[in-house]
Amino acid sequence: MSTSSPDDAPLVVGVSGASGAPIAVALLQALAKTEIPVALIVSDGGEAVLRAECDLYARDLAQYADQVYDDGDPAARIASGSTRTRGMVVVPCSGNTLAKISHGFADTLITRAAQVHLKERRPLVLVPRETPLSTLMLRNLTLASEAGAVVLFAAPPYYLKAESVQGLVDYLAGKVLDVFSIPHQLYRGWKADRPSA
Ligand SMILES: Cc1cc2nc3c(=O)[nH]c(=O)nc-3n(C[C@H](O)[C@H](O)[C@H](O)COP(=O)(O)O)c2cc1C
Repeated sequence: MSTSSPDDAPLVVGVSGASGAPIAVALLQALAKTEIPVALIVSDGGEAVLRAECDLYARDLAQYADQVYDDGDPAARIASGSTRTRGMVVVPCSGNTLAKISHGFADTLITRAAQVHLKERRPLVLVPRETPLSTLMLRNLTLASEAGAVVLFAAPPYYLKAESVQGLVDYLAGKVLDVFSIPHQLYRGWKADRPSA
C-alpha cells in the first residue's frame, strides 16, 4: 500500500499524438506554478506532434515535471494501482490512444496508467482532437465516458473573443485544471456582455 498522502500524490500527465500539443505545454506550465507534483509520460506520437506544433522535444517538457516516465516502460511505478495519484489527464489524446484506452489495452505506459485510473475509480480526463469524427471514434468516446473518463474535447468556445490562439489554448488547459479543482488564472469565466443601464 502506498504511504504517500493525497496532497503529495502526483497528477499524471500523458501526452499522446493528437493535435493540441500547445494545450499540454500550457497545462504543464500552469501546474509548475503550483505545489502539485507532476508525473509526465510522452508517447512517440506525442513527441512528433510536439515537434510539429511547438518546435519542442519531449525532453524540453521535463522542466515542468517532477517525474518523467518512458511510455515504453510498463513496469513504472505509476503502472500500479498501489501508487497513489491525484488523477490523470491524457492531453492531447489521439484517436489511437483513445481506442486503446476505451477497449482496455495497456501496451504502453500511458494506456496502462489510464486503465489503472479507471479500475481504481480515480479521475481520468481525455482531451481528444479530431474532425470530423468517425463512428468508431464516437463509439470509443462513449465507451471511455461510460467507463468513467471525463471527455474534455479540445473545442474552445468562440465567445471568448480570444485575441490569439494562445487564449484558446489557455482556456482548454484551464478547463482540465477545473476538473481537478486546481485554481488557475488561465481564463476568466463567462460574463454576459450587458450594456450598462
Ligand atoms: C502533426 C500530426 C498531427 C496529428 N494530429 C492528430 C489528431 O489531431 N488526432 C489524432 O487522433 N491523431 C493525430 N495524428 C496521428 C497520431 O499522432 C498517430 O495516430 C500516432 O500513431 C498516435 O500515437 P499515440 O497514440 O501513441 O500517441 C497526428 C500526427 C501528426 C504527425
